[in-house]
Amino acid sequence: MEEQIERLARECREEISAAGSENALYAVRVKFLGKSGLISELMKGMRNLAPEQRPVMGKIVNETRASLEAEFAAKGKQLHEKELAEKLASEKIDITINEGSRTGRLHPLSAVRQRLVDFFVSMGFDVMDGPEVETDYYNFEALNVPKDHPARDMQDTFFLGGNLLLRSQTSASQVRYMEEHKPPLKMISPGRVFRNDDDATHSPVFHQLEGLVVDRGITMCDLKGILDEFAKHFFGKDTKVRFRPSYFPFTEPSVEVDVSCAMCHGKGCKICKGTGWIEILGAGIVNRKVLRTCGIDPDEYTGFAFGFGIDRIANIIHGIPHIKLLYENDIRFLEQFR
Ligand code: DAH
Repeated sequence: MEEQIERLARECREEISAAGSENALYAVRVKFLGKSGLISELMKGMRNLAPEQRPVMGKIVNETRASLEAEFAAKGKQLHEKELAEKLASEKIDITINEGSRTGRLHPLSAVRQRLVDFFVSMGFDVMDGPEVETDYYNFEALNVPKDHPARDMQDTFFLGGNLLLRSQTSASQVRYMEEHKPPLKMISPGRVFRNDDDATHSPVFHQLEGLVVDRGITMCDLKGILDEFAKHFFGKDTKVRFRPSYFPFTEPSVEVDVSCAMCHGKGCKICKGTGWIEILGAGIVNRKVLRTCGIDPDEYTGFAFGFGIDRIANIIHGIPHIKLLYENDIRFLEQFR
């Protein structure tokens, strides 16, 4: 029996020294010194010894156990220190690296939108927010675009079922505003609009800013005056504005508005596609039908309205070639705007 103990102790020492981790060492401990480990099993054989031999063997077993325990403890400490050192090394953070502080800033679209709103507020316009999920009535019908009217094809609309749709134009806000306010009124409504359009120059989500002025005696001259100021403020003092006849169901007459190209000052370049002019918005005198629908007497009041893409204005101001850049949120792009 003594020999067996010695053999087990030898095996145990070999396995202790081979153990490469605290977990492995624990498994060795269970195998040899555990409740049903090899040494405990061996002790069961004591029963078969002569009574006088039992205390002698007991002493040997206890001493062996104690010496193995000491070795487990020593190896355990060594492994623990090694594992701790490895863990600390792998989690090391070099706090001496200085990446500079990165401050947040407004998205170019938000910044331009804010400037636009500031400009119109400084001219006495009220700011209104309309719902992005609109009814057919506000987006089309009240704006003189009845169901099945071909003018609906001008805007590829996302219909949501029932009478609901994602608004395709902020013009819907005009109607809501006129329902709630009596003239004289001056309002702008900036916001997100949606169209089923997706190519190099169109994004299914983009932003518009709508303007509306209704009072006694409002004419095309008032529209021209405001837009002249607007163009000078955003595109430079020498900027000229021109009107071209156009068609919108909610204005009569309607115009398309161009500004002289700030890049080439009218000579013709890549930005203005050689024409010297850049189209920026649609506008006109509010259709009498629309005023009447909104409870305003068209014999007493007249008004003008305009609507433009905020994205387009941002692209012109910053020389951004592609509308998609505004929506990809690539940090390398966004960091260029301070
Ligand atoms: N809602 C038009 C569009 O999305 C733009 C527009 C044109 C708005 C003429 C107006 C306007 O208020 O009078 O194409």
